[in-house]
Amino acid sequence: MKTKISSPEFLEGFLRTAAGYDSDEGNPRVKEIVHRLLSDLCKAIDDLDITVDEFWHGANYLLRLGQAHETALLVAGLGLEHILDVREDELDENAGLAKDGATPRTIEGPLYVAGAPVVEGEAQLDDGTDTESDLMHLSGKVVDAVTGEVIPNATVEVWHCNSKGNYSFFDQSQSDFNMRRTIKTDNGQYTARSIVPSGYSVPPGNPTEQLLTLLGRHGSRPAHIHFFVHAPGYRHLTTQINLSDDPFCHDDFAYATRDELIVDAVEVNDPEKIAAAKMKGPYKELVFDFSLTKAADSDQEVRSSRARAAL
Ligand code: DHB
Ligand code: FE
Repeated sequence: MKTKISSPEFLEGFLRTAAGYDSDEGNPRVKEIVHRLLSDLCKAIDDLDITVDEFWHGANYLLRLGQAHETALLVAGLGLEHILDVREDELDENAGLAKDGATPRTIEGPLYVAGAPVVEGEAQLDDGTDTESDLMHLSGKVVDAVTGEVIPNATVEVWHCNSKGNYSFFDQSQSDFNMRRTIKTDNGQYTARSIVPSGYSVPPGNPTEQLLTLLGRHGSRPAHIHFFVHAPGYRHLTTQINLSDDPFCHDDFAYATRDELIVDAVEVNDPEKIAAAKMKGPYKELVFDFSLTKAADSDQEVRSSRARAAL
């Protein structure tokens, strides 16, 4: 069916006006982006015969998504955050910035909180109250991806969820900054003691899960640990590791798993090793080294400027 919004004469002029092109004021970049998104949306409405009821259902869904503070959850769940990573990888490749052996980036996710305590070399991440998971000893070093040499003044910021898959701050029942620390490496070495995180699932019954259900998809992630890794003169790295024995390791609803980021958790029961590692009992040992690439400018040394929770 031919409608007026299919007619280029009508729609093109109208959308340019709606996006502010008739005005000398405003922001040209915002106009450009709004014009494009509006045009694509109108095309979808016409091509798919989106009804008035469907349109307002969608608009109201976005309202509820925002009210539930789940915008960034859905961005991850629809794979958009992963797509941004894939695009950054491609831009690096084209600019000759991709280096063999460099630790790949993967999504930050929506559950970071700024301001975690800063510790030297070794961190106790958990507050000891969650006894439902195995103990975890996580360590490694930060090295230059090209030379393999340690980067002495590197910093590793780490965060993960508890045995129920919940993150402190967003889960108000946990202590402040539970399972979140900023570790200033000891000559490139970092060590963290904690509990093994469980897999994660989106909050049940909320807008993100509602849409995933309509798509016939689940909202689960494998057990994983998040990192920001940075050092003067090196490109900031946002990444995660995933635990190899988790059933969702290759079925992550947020598409964050990458082959180079899968880690085996090795059981340690030897009392001598437990004592040497300063652990309270048998534990799971995880070792992961980060390989950073040199920064071309100071902008590359810092993380993206997206809005983040802070405490
Ligand atoms: C989501 C949750 C996470 O813990 C994560 O790392 C990535 C995404 C989410 O709920 O979308
Ligand atoms: Fe996470």
